[in-house]
Amino acid sequence: MEREKHLSRSYEEEILKLNQELENAKNFSLSLIESIGSGIIITEINDKITYMNRAGERILGYLKNEVIGKPFSILGLKEKQSNLQSLFGGQEETDTRREGWMRRKDQAEIPVGFTINNHQDIHGETIGKIVIFRDLTKVYKMQEEILRMDRLVSLGKLASGIAHEIRNPLAGIKTTAQALGEEMPEEDPRREYLNRITKEIDRLNELLKTFFSFAKPQTLNLVPCHVREIVNAITPFLIKEIADKGIRFVEFYHPELPKLNVDKVQMHQAFLNLFLNAIQAMPNGGELRVEARPFKGPASMNPNKRGVKILISDTGKGIPPQILPKIFDPFFTTKPKGMGLGLSITYQIIKKHGGTIEVESHLEKGTTFIIYLPEVG
Ligand SMILES: Nc1ncnc2c1ncn2[C@@H]1O[C@H](COP(=O)(O)OP(=O)(O)OP(=O)(O)O)[C@@H](O)[C@H]1O
Ligand SMILES: [Mg+2]
Repeated sequence: MEREKHLSRSYEEEILKLNQELENAKNFSLSLIESIGSGIIITEINDKITYMNRAGERILGYLKNEVIGKPFSILGLKEKQSNLQSLFGGQEETDTRREGWMRRKDQAEIPVGFTINNHQDIHGETIGKIVIFRDLTKVYKMQEEILRMDRLVSLGKLASGIAHEIRNPLAGIKTTAQALGEEMPEEDPRREYLNRITKEIDRLNELLKTFFSFAKPQTLNLVPCHVREIVNAITPFLIKEIADKGIRFVEFYHPELPKLNVDKVQMHQAFLNLFLNAIQAMPNGGELRVEARPFKGPASMNPNKRGVKILISDTGKGIPPQILPKIFDPFFTTKPKGMGLGLSITYQIIKKHGGTIEVESHLEKGTTFIIYLPEVG
């Protein structure tokens, strides 16, 4: 009897101990998957979500209790390639890495890398899926920037080659035209033809200079300058068009705006291109708005660096989402008379100043260019 009692006590203790260990192991794995950087979602066999970790909340913008119990399909996971198999229930290989998109709570689609694994119970029976995913927005952005820089470099090489070949004969034509003019009497009406030739040559030379600015990244002549000064320097060129089209021009400068270190000539060019695009997007009037505020660096710039965030927005026709990734490319244009160089020049100038430029656009509502520039010092 004594002996039996003793046995059962030690049995109870054993179970208690095992339970404790089980609890510890559970807590350990839970804190592990909670602290991991990738999003993790577990679903039941019927696709209902039963678990999402903290990284999942951060990436998708949902709180755990907003998705638990909901069907996995609300997250709109789509695979990138055409081999779109049924993501759940199919016999496909489940543990390979894939790329695709997921929908955040705010309905924005974000690029993700993901894997889907079967969730099995201890008997090896499938009881659901485990989806592990990573936000690839930054990776995609970096890839895009590298490609863009690459295209600009090849364009630069091409442009300098062509410009060189054209410049020399042009100089020859110009001197010949001038020499011809000198041989003609003052009042000769044919002088007008020669004038026209010279004028057109000058125009071509200007164009070549634009190409050269791609080829030879000019050195920056940096001076401290307030955003307002940059805008004030270019508005005189635009006043007439703004007035003719009935556009309202609104400026807002935060009272404690730090100064920027800029090459004035180049920064005027960068802003002018943006203003011109905005005006051209509003043929029937609207609002052109410049806003500048201090900011503490976004992650893509040095996070400790302070600077200025400048918004240039219009209420024009907007940019269709499918062409949005191309607008900074050289020679990309949707305008009959456009060269498609404005934004790629602006992009290069902002980059050279250590800044960034991004765009947000809504069809028929308008477009905003968001520029970050580091402050003096
Ligand atoms: N504010 C805007 N609103 C609507 N579309 C825009 C705006 N800014 C740029 N775009 C689109 O981006 C394209 C590229 O712009 P970019 O300034 O590089 O070239 P462009 O204006 O066509 O020609 P260029 O500036 O060389 O005269 C434009 O053709 C237009 O489709
Ligand atoms: Mg333009």
